[in-house]
Amino acid sequence: MESNLTNQEAALIRAGIRGKYSQVAASGPGACFRYPTGEEGVRQQHYPPELIRDFPAPVLASFCGVGNPFSLGPIYSGEAVLDIGCGGGFDTLVAARLVGPGGRAAGIDVTGEMIEQARANLALVNLQNVSFRVGEAEALPFPDQDFDVVISNGVFNLTLDKELALKEAHRVLKPGGRLLLADMVLVAELPPEQAGKVENWYQ
Ligand SMILES: C[S@@+](CC[C@H](N)C(=O)[O-])C[C@H]1O[C@@H](n2cnc3c(N)ncnc32)[C@H](O)[C@@H]1O
Repeated sequence: MESNLTNQEAALIRAGIRGKYSQVAASGPGACFRYPTGEEGVRQQHYPPELIRDFPAPVLASFCGVGNPFSLGPIYSGEAVLDIGCGGGFDTLVAARLVGPGGRAAGIDVTGEMIEQARANLALVNLQNVSFRVGEAEALPFPDQDFDVVISNGVFNLTLDKELALKEAHRVLKPGGRLLLADMVLVAELPPEQAGKVENWYQ
């Protein structure tokens, strides 16, 4: 369901999202968000300290999630995990630690610059079981039933077709797989002066 957006509005929103996150990749989350990001965001979301203790500063600084998907359920040694909208890859790297060398973690993101940053972050940590690639939540570049767990942090609110994105997450999960989703939701109607604004999607 792509709501009632015109094709032109949808194209503007997609371009705006990529523009914003290219900028975030280039200059850091900094002033781009209205919630805590980077090391302070990680601290406030109570990530398990033992998993991130030796993450270098650039890895922590790249975090711009809205929650902590790992607080929603366990991830076990040997499992395969997909991080949708991985950004700089912080959660993907945490997942890789949790599954260990016998498991794997993959991250996809629609913004090429974010994937470049995630690969640069990966080069700073000693993990062999991680891959990153450009891809869209609405068309995941993976076969059916490829993962035990799908995680995502602050991304589904940005997808234009949320039903399709959820169907894609379901498609790549094995039977009995788990979706651990941290995100923002609207709890009331937007005021009329904001409801129609294309920029509201990525401000
Ligand atoms: C708020 S950031 C969160 C990044 C990361 N999950 C984290 O916690 O640091 C949102 C990310 O979603 C990506 N994104 C937005 N729309 C997407 C889509 N349709 N498919 C895949 N990634 C998308 C953006 O490029 C951006 O990197």
